[in-house]
Amino acid sequence: MPNRILVIGSSNTDMIIQLDRLPRPGETILGGEFVTAAGGKGANQAVAAARAGGQVTFIARVGQDMFGNQAIAGFRRDGIDVSLVVRDRQAPSGVALIFVAKDGENCIAVASGANGRLSPADVRKAKPAFAGASAVVMQLETPLETVLAAAELAAKAHVPVILNPAPAQPLPAKLLSRVSILTPNETEADLLTGVKVTDDATAAQAAAKLLQLGVQTAILTLGARGAFVASAEVRQLVPGFKVKPVDTVAAGDVFNGALAVALGEGRPLLDAVRFANAAAAISVTRLGAQPSAPKRREIERLVRG
Ligand code: RIB
Repeated sequence: MPNRILVIGSSNTDMIIQLDRLPRPGETILGGEFVTAAGGKGANQAVAAARAGGQVTFIARVGQDMFGNQAIAGFRRDGIDVSLVVRDRQAPSGVALIFVAKDGENCIAVASGANGRLSPADVRKAKPAFAGASAVVMQLETPLETVLAAAELAAKAHVPVILNPAPAQPLPAKLLSRVSILTPNETEADLLTGVKVTDDATAAQAAAKLLQLGVQTAILTLGARGAFVASAEVRQLVPGFKVKPVDTVAAGDVFNGALAVALGEGRPLLDAVRFANAAAAISVTRLGAQPSAPKRREIERLVRG
């Protein structure tokens, strides 16, 4: 059976400046290096899933501009089905301005453009694509009503939903109750639960709260430390892989894409999280969002050790 992953979400062009340190408000810093790379949390997840071995269909909106053309060409090169990527006549493609400091820290500002116009009608038109998918993977760079509509369609089609609640925002109970796997980082977990995640104990507390809110499985991504997994059966940390970070942008997106693939192959939850940790670890050793997503053989090599 093909491992068909349906990713719904944003596509951006990332304009990245590498600096010694991040600028303070009002400050100008010279001496940076400029790079353009394909990005957007949804597109990053789609590319990560495709390179990890999934058969990916992407639902998104891009503008009728050069950035949209380049994004679609990139998806095609990774073997992603782009038949449900809509070319928006009114809004430009999404753009993200990203500063990356020497220590790997970053800050990002996004002009959503066409991503903000991905509508419930767009996902409803794509209803046939839900049937038989191994997972629907989403994030929060497109309107919440669209995420909700997709979660409802996934529930009707009995397809598990993996939701990366990034960028952080409060979520309605009716969405959380439809999420099979929620994958917040520390900041997002804090916003959703009110628990400040600083160690394993607080990660466990936040995860328990997410389960109470209706999520079936909570996986808290904790950067280099790995991921804390909580479900009805298990509560434990899956340690991360030690690497030298260059750029942590998109590590979470790569984690989610790889996780969906591993689960779709029927791997047990903790093994799937280890696979996703390995993919994310490789991604932080490289600059750029989609350029950093590893191929399956690289992930397998790191997992084997
Ligand atoms: O998660 C990283 C992504 O966030 C970047 O690629 C940027 O486009 C923003 O959407």
